[in-house]
Amino acid sequence: MEASTSSGGILSEGARDERDQLVEMLKKAYWMEIETVMSYIANSINPDGIRAREIMESLDQDIQEELGHAQQFGKRIKELYGVVPGSEEFSAEQSYLQPPEDQTDLIHIVRGVIEAESGAIEFYNQIIEFCADRDPVTEDMVITILADEEGHRRLFEGFLRELEKDA
Ligand SMILES: [Fe+2]
Ligand SMILES: [Fe+2]
Repeated sequence: MEASTSSGGILSEGARDERDQLVEMLKKAYWMEIETVMSYIANSINPDGIRAREIMESLDQDIQEELGHAQQFGKRIKELYGVVPGSEEFSAEQSYLQPPEDQTDLIHIVRGVIEAESGAIEFYNQIIEFCADRDPVTEDMVITILADEEGHRRLFEGFLRELEKDA
């Protein structure tokens, strides 16, 4: 007889398939965080102009938070008997967060950040849904990370509103 997830938890032998699925989701989340770190480093350095400072400083702070998220996802992958992937498995997806042609084009950057945060919010909601009744520990961790991403997005929505008003 096979043990169910609800009785043995996500680390039980009977939950192997679900655990493998979850590890794959966490690997994807890990790469999303790593790519966000790369994009935010570039966009916290590149912009020019009087109005760029606020955005650069904000991204500068976010880099540390996103890096912390990547580490949390990595640790949880290990706890679930997975292996944190090596750099050769990475493939970039944030086409919208490449440096703009014009380094004073702050709207491009702010829109890119909102898109990155929205992608994370959507995917982390999926992970939370998957974890319901399966893995309360991962669920709890991802809920906390989700709250950070919602905060980041809201901040940049405010920047966008102001930039668009003056555009
Ligand atoms: Fe993050
Ligand atoms: Fe974020």
